[in-house]
Amino acid sequence: MTSVAELRPLTSVPRVPGAVPLLGHALALWRNPLPFLSSLRQYGDLVRVNLGTMPMYVVTTPDLVHEVTVRQAGSFEKGRFFDRLKPLAGNGLANSDGELHRRHRRLIQPMFSRERIVGYSEIMSSNAQALADSWAPGDVIDLEPAMAGYAVETLARTLFSTDIGRPAVDAVRQHLPVLLTNLLVRAASPKALDRLPIHANRAFDRAAASLRAVIDEVITTSRSAGPADHDDLLSLLLAAQDPESGAGLSDEAVRDELSTILFAGAETTAATLAWTFHELAARPDVEAAVLAEIGEVVGDGPVAAHHVPRLQGIRRVIDEVIRLHGVTLLMRRTTETVHLGGVTMPPGTEVAFSLYALHRDPGVYEHADRFDPDRWLPERQAAGPGRRAYVPFGAGNRKCIGDQFVWTEATIAIATILRQWQLVPVAGHTPQEVASAVAHADSIPMTVTARG
Ligand code: HEM
Repeated sequence: MTSVAELRPLTSVPRVPGAVPLLGHALALWRNPLPFLSSLRQYGDLVRVNLGTMPMYVVTTPDLVHEVTVRQAGSFEKGRFFDRLKPLAGNGLANSDGELHRRHRRLIQPMFSRERIVGYSEIMSSNAQALADSWAPGDVIDLEPAMAGYAVETLARTLFSTDIGRPAVDAVRQHLPVLLTNLLVRAASPKALDRLPIHANRAFDRAAASLRAVIDEVITTSRSAGPADHDDLLSLLLAAQDPESGAGLSDEAVRDELSTILFAGAETTAATLAWTFHELAARPDVEAAVLAEIGEVVGDGPVAAHHVPRLQGIRRVIDEVIRLHGVTLLMRRTTETVHLGGVTMPPGTEVAFSLYALHRDPGVYEHADRFDPDRWLPERQAAGPGRRAYVPFGAGNRKCIGDQFVWTEATIAIATILRQWQLVPVAGHTPQEVASAVAHADSIPMTVTARG
């Protein structure tokens, strides 16, 4: 640990070359975010980039990310990235800080308990089966939208459980692509450009406003229908009461939480599933092993929650897919003086990190860009980089609330689809990574082929 005497001032942090006047590194972040973020580690463990004229300090090592997210989490709030997402997700769980975050997290956590997830698994399984049954041999499917449909539908049926939520589901499906396309540009645009009518900003604001309006209507309809006896998040939020004041949640707070979860849970899951089928098609040996495991563990019936912990081959595949195509950029802001990486940071300093870049660090992972699910075998993990270096869902008090949900959802979808269909890549197209909340693919067209 660095003693206070050894601490350096913030001005000593190495600056990443290539900043241009007014925009700083924003253009590089807009145009080539993934290579740009991955390039930063060469300049140091803690480096400075400029979003316009605003300095952003990027930490590039697992230890410093752990400092920010866990050890010193109490000295950070969510940063500028999350400020910029407020038109979409308001003060929902991902954006709120301090006491508000703690209270709402406690309130929502029960929706993601083990028992609840076992309950949702039937919806997950029947949705996955419906998707697989909607395909015919020879169909060419773009997996990105197909998996987004599955993810949104599954989330919606667990959040809303009745048809009251239908308009919200349709609105998410309609607006999600626009929100995703413009997310990173919006998050990374310099303050100086805030007021400019940049297309990406306008498109994002319009889509966010439409989505929020639809969710508002769903809430109004549900409130006027009176107390409901449904086991869904909407009913839970509408019935929630503050333990101290006894007050309920405002409609606005309910809407913020619903749009946050719809947003946080849709693209991430869809991209993970779509990449999974792409990566498996390139590794017939892994696909064959996974298929054998599905046959052994599940047999012919529906894939259920109790199968999930035994489908360890799928677990390794998902681990590896999220390592390769994970969350692009996260931010925090210091709320008090912080000592980080040998440097003193005053309150208000913006700190960022990229899980995507962290998980592709060749100094941490052997053949870091290679899809190799066997790296997660227990015997290889023992000699590997350790859990601190692999944080697909973040860590500490802001860790993803949906991690167990998505393990179950993704495992069930993969097992259900894979045993029914072989998905064969369409020749001549190599999917390209596009940075949004996660590194999703531009498109993954695959031909549906019956299993022999
Ligand atoms: C593969 C899928 C997913 C990945 C990779 C992922 C990743 C993450 C990460 C890294 C964070 C932490 C953000 C930070 O530290 O600033 C996070 C937070 C969050 N995620 Fe996920 N997520 C996934 C799926 C889901 C699902 C399915 C849901 C909901 C059903 C969800 C809901 C949330 C929420 C509400 C937060 C904010 C938690 C808080 O701040 O208390 N995520 N996610």
